[in-house]
Order: sequence, then C-alpha cells, then structure tokens
Amino acid sequence: MTALLSIRDLSVRYRRDGAEVAALNGVSLEVEAGERLAIIGESGSGKSTLALAIAGLLARSAKIGGTIEWSAGQLQSSHSFKTSAGPLLGRDIGFVFQDPSSSLDPVMTVGKQIAEVVNTHLGLGWSQSLARAKTLVERVRLPDPQAALRAYPHQLSGGQKQRVAIAAAIATAPKLLIADEATSALDTIVQAEIVALIRRLVAEDGMTLIFISHDIALAATLAERIAVLRHGELVEVGATEKIINAPRQAYTRALLDAHLGLDAEPLLDRQGALT
Ligand SMILES: Nc1ncnc2c1ncn2[C@@H]1O[C@H](COP(=O)(O)OP(=O)(O)OP(=O)(O)O)[C@@H](O)[C@H]1O
Ligand SMILES: [Mg+2]
Repeated sequence: MTALLSIRDLSVRYRRDGAEVAALNGVSLEVEAGERLAIIGESGSGKSTLALAIAGLLARSAKIGGTIEWSAGQLQSSHSFKTSAGPLLGRDIGFVFQDPSSSLDPVMTVGKQIAEVVNTHLGLGWSQSLARAKTLVERVRLPDPQAALRAYPHQLSGGQKQRVAIAAAIATAPKLLIADEATSALDTIVQAEIVALIRRLVAEDGMTLIFISHDIALAATLAERIAVLRHGELVEVGATEKIINAPRQAYTRALLDAHLGLDAEPLLDRQGALT
C-alpha cells in the first residue's frame, strides 16, 4: 500500500490567555491509501487539532511545526502543505463534524446545499449538480429522497442531518473522509446506523477513512488500525485487534476499560456486522 498522507513531527500550539497551549507534540503518522484508521483519545488529547491540521482548517493563529505530505495517487507528485491548504479540502478531503446543525446552512434546502458543494468544487452546472445531489441523498439512504432534497435542516432528525452532512462531505468523491466525533451527539442506535453508513460508503468509493472518536469500542467496529493520542502525543498505533487484545500502554487499557467492561471478542465480531 502507498501512503496517502505522511505526517512528520507535527506540532501545533495555540495561544490562549497570553499563554501557549501545546495541542500536538511531535506526531508522526502515515495513513495508507484505502485504510480505515481511527484516532482515539480522551477529551483535549488533540484529536480535532490533528484532523483540522490535515484538512488545513486550523486557525491562522495556531503555530504549526513539522510537515504533512499528501500524495494524491500517481496523478501528482506529493507536496507539503501548511495551514491553509484550501485546494484539498472539499475536493480531495471530505470532513464530517460532530454537530451537523453547525455544519449545515439552516436557511438553505438540503438539495441546494449539497448541489452547491458539487457546483463549487467540481464545477458542474447547476442542473447537473442538483442531479448529483439527488443521487447522494439516495446513497445516504434518507427516507423519501425527493422530500429530503426540499427540506431544511431543522425539519430533519439528528441522524438524518448527519446523513446530509455525510452526503455533502462525499459529494466530490474525496479520496479521504475525516469524521470527527461524527456520531457522538447521536443516541446508540442512530450512532450504529451512521457508523454502518460510513462503512458502506467508504467501501463503495474506496475512500480512505480517518474516524475520530473518544470511544475506542466504537472505533474498533469500524477501523482496521487505531492510533491513540494522549496529551498531544501519539502513544500507541497498531492493528485494531492488537490494540484491543493486547494494548501496550496503560492509557490505552484505561480507555478500553472505560468503554468496554466486556471482552474484546464480541467487540471484534461486530466489525462488519452492520451494513
Ligand atoms: N482554537 C483553540 N484555541 C486555544 N486552544 C485550543 C483551541 N482548540 C483546541 N485547543 C486546546 O488544544 C487542546 C487539544 O484540543 P482538541 O480540540 O484538539 O482535543 P480533542 O481531542 O479533539 O478533544 P474533544 O474530545 O473534547 O473534542 C486542548 O487543550 C484544547 O483546549
Ligand atoms: Mg475534538
């Protein structure tokens, strides 16, 4: 496999109340093309900072060290990018945030906002963009796709809104999908449905997935590999089965204990159980 993304010695510092907060410290990680990687860690460990750095979405005031190299297949030679890597996001990278209400435009219909993503990033004409929006709404299995296209976000449930946000994120057939706590605000059943949806779309499109969660058990149902962040440092990276069955770090074990309280076997059996 080839690396889609090579992160080397990445450090991010924020300024807060006159002091510097080290959100990431010397993080190095390769993300292989086509893999499903989970990044887990407790609140404040730097997960979102890492996701935003990859997507080029960090605040301008953030101080960034190290490199992130993006190798978009054989088409382009790889290049390094820093904070404002505008060209990648939205076309090559799809991003799903925790709260669909804040990522969706409340005054624009679902159909229009998905079409706008297509129109902006792929340059398709408006009617083609609308047609693509319809296909996308069908792909994320919104009930009654026609009605969904005409709906405003507030007319949809939390799970349905997240389906719309996912449709918008994959609208340009990105190579990489980043889901940052994309299911954390949902109840358990809807969470499982959204995880299943992400799994299906990633498989269908051959996307690379970075799934970010504080919930290692949930991450294990989706990811082939797990990277564990603690206080801005990568403390453990490995195959999901290894991390679950034989975590090397006490911190990883503590995360497992916090979320499991059960054997790893049934957990791993859940992989692929939902489609
Ligand atoms: N814009 C910002 N300005 C100042 N400090 C920030 C900013 N964003 C994050 N931080 C700080 O950086 C650290 C890492 O935050 P980050 O949001 O990356 O963690 P996280 O793992 O995503 O947490 P959560 O699980 O709560 O989403 C925390 O100490 C946080 O308070
Ligand atoms: Mg976060």
